[in-house]
Amino acid sequence: MNSIHDCYTLSNGVRIPSVGFGTYKAADGKSIEILKIAIETGYRYFDTASFYGTETFVRDAIKDSGIRREDFFIASKLWKDEMGYENVKQAFARTLENLGTNYLDLYLIHWPLPAPDYEDWKTLNTETWRALEELYEEGKIRAIGLSNFLPHHIENIVKSCKVKPMVNQLEFHPGYTQEAAVRYCQERGILVQAWSPIGRGRVLADAMMLEMAEKYQVSTAQICLRYALQRGIVPLPKSSTAERMRQNQDIFAFELSQEDMYRIDTMPQTGWSGEHPDRERMKF
Ligand code: A2P
Repeated sequence: MNSIHDCYTLSNGVRIPSVGFGTYKAADGKSIEILKIAIETGYRYFDTASFYGTETFVRDAIKDSGIRREDFFIASKLWKDEMGYENVKQAFARTLENLGTNYLDLYLIHWPLPAPDYEDWKTLNTETWRALEELYEEGKIRAIGLSNFLPHHIENIVKSCKVKPMVNQLEFHPGYTQEAAVRYCQERGILVQAWSPIGRGRVLADAMMLEMAEKYQVSTAQICLRYALQRGIVPLPKSSTAERMRQNQDIFAFELSQEDMYRIDTMPQTGWSGEHPDRERMKF
């Protein structure tokens, strides 16, 4: 990979840019401006979700840019209360409407369980997936996948599916690398994507990360993003300033040594959001 426009090829042949722009919590008054700046600085892959409330901002920013729809890669996700066969069909129609498009490049199930104590999540997931498969087969979505799914959740889908998930989006950053889930996906040709790839800033103050930033003469955020890239994982950084948006794309001119990769792989847990699909949220 030499730029954010270089692509991975998903298991169904669809090409997906190596870095995307995350839109979570861009939902304040300035978010259309933020998304316009993101387009101006070069981002073409936008990761949104019905839950984020940012789909309409993505739509407006793309419309204002004058750039063709097909030059963008747009991913969205169905929320916990949109799971289930019928609900998905309606949720998808709403998402298309919000995004002002007639197809999605990627559509994901946001979380495997609506709540940690939800008993029949297995049936709910397979019904939800069946609706995604149909939309995919009708040509309305170019690729389908999962988000926050752990190996046992994915196995349940894979057991009965017609179309295998192409993507799994996980919290992934130095200090929280979910090795078992990443390995499971990568061994099966499921592309891993990283949400919160710089640990929402909490990783940035870590002494070892600061040392590496100094060594490679880049920022700690760039170390985090480069780390994901070298793991074959698509980072989805978000930022509200043009300077950081550009900085977060400038991760192709240096390479972390194998030793430094191992040091990041094995650093103690840092900056975990506290979210786990099977548990109540941990507060730190
Ligand atoms: P800001 O909007 O002020 O740039 P994550 O994607 O890991 O959840 O992190 C998002 C947070 O990281 C945002 O609060 C963003 O703040 C900050 N951030 C994004 N890029 C950088 C960067 N290059 N350097 C420092 N902080 C950054």
